[in-house]
Amino acid sequence: MKDDVKKIFVEKFKTEPLIVRSPGRINIIGEHTDYNNGFVLPAAIDKAIYIAASKRDDYLISLHAANFNEDFTVKISEIAPSKQNWPNYILGIVDQLKKINKNITGFNAVVDGDVPLGAGLSSSAAVECATVFALNELFELQLDKMQMVKLAQAAEHAFAGVKVGIMDMFASMFGKKENVIKLDCRSLQYEYVPFHLPGIKIVLLNTNVKHSLASTEYNTRRKECEQGVEWIKENHPEVNSLRDATIEMLNTMVLPKDKLVYKRCRFIVEEIQRLLQACEDLKKDDVSALGKKMFATHDGLSKDYEVSCKELDFLVDAVRNNKNVFGARMMGGGFGGCTINLVKEEAVENLVEDVGNIYQKEMNLPLTAYIVSIEDGTSVLK
Ligand code: GLA
Repeated sequence: MKDDVKKIFVEKFKTEPLIVRSPGRINIIGEHTDYNNGFVLPAAIDKAIYIAASKRDDYLISLHAANFNEDFTVKISEIAPSKQNWPNYILGIVDQLKKINKNITGFNAVVDGDVPLGAGLSSSAAVECATVFALNELFELQLDKMQMVKLAQAAEHAFAGVKVGIMDMFASMFGKKENVIKLDCRSLQYEYVPFHLPGIKIVLLNTNVKHSLASTEYNTRRKECEQGVEWIKENHPEVNSLRDATIEMLNTMVLPKDKLVYKRCRFIVEEIQRLLQACEDLKKDDVSALGKKMFATHDGLSKDYEVSCKELDFLVDAVRNNKNVFGARMMGGGFGGCTINLVKEEAVENLVEDVGNIYQKEMNLPLTAYIVSIEDGTSVLK
């Protein structure tokens, strides 16, 4: 991959590039908790976005996306969200740099990668992190990783219009081989938790359903959670997010006002608790207990938070009573993308084949499987 992106770059721009790799991410448990100031448990994976870049002498941004075989050129002074979509994850970063007065000149870039698009593995965050990391190096902007993560999140808000939390960028940037990151999204303190479960593989099953509803529904869920917090605040002004809320508060302050908002908020409060207990399971190497919590998370996401879809539910149900599968659930924002499964190594091949066959038959869609490993976060490739 690295050599491919370099080759394309040199052919196109006739100069040696800087190359940055920024990975996609998984999340073991803790979904939709990041924008509620809760905890998440993500990790960077062995699928990544690669960006090759060099400075220019003028003020032009000249981009090429190898995946789409498309070019895009714009003057820095004229950048705005583009209908072409993929350039937005790069332009959004430049826009944020301008806002904090990190003025850069033009640059050339080629983007390539093997993070499947629209599969819930955060290819967009990976492009943003790769871009900000590369520009930080090229133009010696002196940004630290945390600043870059926040900038990438702001870019997504402004240029993609989705009010995402911080998890995806954080995982891509701070990932560490064989570790998951227990991130407190309120304080932004984090801890690496070793994740090496002997004999167990992390298997992602891609529904191949693109999440078209995802961005509008995502923003709606965020508002529903904020509404719940507002109602609690009437009696408990100290509560600033669902992280600070209890089920009892929800029962007294939210349930009487709106059942739907109550369901959403209850899921979040339970999910934050579940994650903390899952971390204890991990410390004890208790995969069965962890796996059960993953199924519980799925059920909450499907029935209470309502961000699943029939294909995701089908895939989770297909493995629910399989003794070789410890846990499974939908992963990421929802409405499509992948399920994450913890599967006994010797059973992976048959499982993928069997589930693939019934999925194709019942849902009339192909199933794609990825066996992923946990790798380091964003870095320059020498
Ligand atoms: C998307 C968002 C994240 C997070 C997840 C759900 O991936 O980008 O910030 O909210 O959905 O956990």
